[in-house]
Amino acid sequence: MATASHQGVPAPATPAARDFPSGFLWGTATASYQIEGAAALDGRTPSIWDTYCRTPGKVRNGDTGDTATDHYHRWREDVALMADLGVGAYRFSLAWPRIQPTGSGPANRKGLDFYARLTDELLEKGIQPVATLYHWDLPQELEDAGGWPERATAERFAEYAALAAEALGDRVKTWTTLNEPWCSAFLGYGSGVHAPGRTDDVSALRAAHHLNLGHGLAVQALRDRLPSTAAVSVTLNLHHVRPLTDSPEDVDAARRIDGVANRVFTGPMLRGAYPADVLEDTAHLTDWSFVHDGDVATIHQPLDFLGVNYYSPTLVSATDGTASHGSDGHGASEHSPWTGADKVAFHLTPGTTTAMGWAVDPSGLRDLLLRLKSDFPEIPLMITENGAAFDDYVNPEGEVNDPDRIAYLHGHLSAVHEAIEAGVDVRGYFLWSLLDNFEWGYGYSKRFGAVYVDYPTGKRIPKASAHWYSRVARTSTLPATAGPQH
Ligand code: FCB
Repeated sequence: MATASHQGVPAPATPAARDFPSGFLWGTATASYQIEGAAALDGRTPSIWDTYCRTPGKVRNGDTGDTATDHYHRWREDVALMADLGVGAYRFSLAWPRIQPTGSGPANRKGLDFYARLTDELLEKGIQPVATLYHWDLPQELEDAGGWPERATAERFAEYAALAAEALGDRVKTWTTLNEPWCSAFLGYGSGVHAPGRTDDVSALRAAHHLNLGHGLAVQALRDRLPSTAAVSVTLNLHHVRPLTDSPEDVDAARRIDGVANRVFTGPMLRGAYPADVLEDTAHLTDWSFVHDGDVATIHQPLDFLGVNYYSPTLVSATDGTASHGSDGHGASEHSPWTGADKVAFHLTPGTTTAMGWAVDPSGLRDLLLRLKSDFPEIPLMITENGAAFDDYVNPEGEVNDPDRIAYLHGHLSAVHEAIEAGVDVRGYFLWSLLDNFEWGYGYSKRFGAVYVDYPTGKRIPKASAHWYSRVARTSTLPATAGPQH
């Protein structure tokens, strides 16, 4: 506790509560495959994740999204939970194989109806729906035809975007094309730790380009159909890459990882060009002739904001050994997801870690936001995901106490506030996740929710962090500390 000094020694500054700007959006986020279940109901067909989960050894414990949190049946209860929390927005994704079961052709009315009911209920409760078109559940039929490495998938994506906008554009005012295309391209087709589990460098680069192209085509399809007041965006998991030392070799390792993690997407999307160094770093793999004339102009669409997902920073050094890709935080593989960036070692940033083994370092988020402002001063930002997994359990009183998650959220919201004070235009924050859910290759073993899910019964129990976040969201004020006095 800081007190006035009597001996002329300056007292330490008392931490103060911090207000967020008026209109700052407070939300929670989820994704279709991670929560919905009902994998074969109402015309939904398998996605690449249904197939991947059924491939032995791919997902921990052989878990699948068949039932997940059963949100497909419990959506009304889940919206009520959000209304109790007092959040102003909900970021969810639409399941492409529910809306367009074969990945092409007309929409499946029952699939669209589910999202229409959900959005009506959200609006009824005063919660703004924020819809993501693609959070990784590609219809299997499109993967069978070649998947994201093929140009046709980008074209199909734009057709699906058009169907979604036509059906929901009267009520959903905020749209995101892709969630984390880095994961789709480089974990899906490079290291293979995500669906569809392919391990081919050139396919990963082709996938990155066709995801970029799909984004551009989808933005055009959305703009053609949505009211001019609608907001259109993309969400990237931008890596805040730091070199271990300031040696030229380590700095160059950081540049190469930054290229294939971040700039391969921000280049065409926000600057209208692929970065020359990324093309050079990958020239031994491909001549990029899959990029056709006019593609980059199509990808370079004006956006209303950029969605930023951040969990942990990335610390790298150069190594002389054979290609070392260490941990990218998404699961081990013999194949590197860092296409074209060999001989890079990954290090854990010192400090505490979450149950994912990810370093807790809010300064990475602050620095990333400052860098985005300096690189792209015009575009407003939205934190579309931030949160942490811990080994939560229900105590004998029936409560879930998760002080580590509260400390994580407090630290990262402080970082967001610092960035705003430094002039970064951050419009909102979405906690990942509303509910414990299917954490991809980790199955149900990792709990990211503010609300605990008892999987055998489906019962929801708001954790202490949910109550904490609710107060922050309702008051738009971050308390001075993460302690219990709040
Ligand atoms: C992000 C994903 C999200 C969730 C979090 C923990 O990469 O977008 O679905 O898995 O990580």
